[in-house]
Amino acid sequence: MPYQSPSAEAPRRASVNVNSLSLMRGRGEPIAMLTAYDASFAVLADRAGVDVILVGDSVGMVCQGRKSTLPVRLEDICYHTESVVRGLEAQGGTAMVIADMPFGSYHASLDQAIRSASALMQAGAQMVKLEGGAWVIDMVDQFVQRGIPVCAHLGLMPQTVHAIGGYRLQGKTPEDAERLREDALALEQAGACLLVLEMVPASLAVKITDALKACHTIGIGAGCGTAGQVLVLHDMLGMKIGRTPRFVKDFLAQTGSIEGAFAAYVAEVKTRSFPVDEVHGF
Ligand code: KIV
Repeated sequence: MPYQSPSAEAPRRASVNVNSLSLMRGRGEPIAMLTAYDASFAVLADRAGVDVILVGDSVGMVCQGRKSTLPVRLEDICYHTESVVRGLEAQGGTAMVIADMPFGSYHASLDQAIRSASALMQAGAQMVKLEGGAWVIDMVDQFVQRGIPVCAHLGLMPQTVHAIGGYRLQGKTPEDAERLREDALALEQAGACLLVLEMVPASLAVKITDALKACHTIGIGAGCGTAGQVLVLHDMLGMKIGRTPRFVKDFLAQTGSIEGAFAAYVAEVKTRSFPVDEVHGF
């Protein structure tokens, strides 16, 4: 059956939570995630049927004018999470909200990481996202034990841009691909509910998606075979300030309105017509 975007008269869906995400995966319905950093965009994204709103540390680049995500502070993400959650609550929104843990907010110690994640949950997030493989496994386990759901992030991890020398495709060699697959399995074992896979070959993303049962992959530049997709808000609205990555599609250009762009994004993710591996994938 073709996907129908919710109309203004349609009854509101129940709140999205960790259980509904698993149900979506179970029935083969892709999860539509989008970043947002303020109340207005969050409400419009929610009304268009976006399942998960990510208050990403990409806020540093798209809103604060920074060269990377590294300078973003924990207080910034708390502030934007509160704005998004306030907007959704005021308008009866049902999308789930994930808050990104910024660089330096979980790097010093487990204690610091737990305090940072708790601050984001108190700001209204329902899940936190953090970048990393082997070195965050214990942290993920400790968060989950404390009732903090986790979205992991592998592949291109923008917080490591200075260590890897640029924003480029990851998991290209058989060794790198195998390390990524093992990290993904370990993150699932530790209790991560979601896993963002950024800029990895589409074939590797499918392999990882199929290997994970309780943890659902969300791709960005990872092809059409993941359990869901995410894009940065400003990218999918065609705001070309820097270089536009290959995996981005401008949904505003094809629809002419922000509401239309969000609805088209949701519809294309749900019907797996976006992304197209040959056009947006690696
Ligand atoms: O910060 C962000 O927007 C992200 C997405 C690119 C997944 O981490």
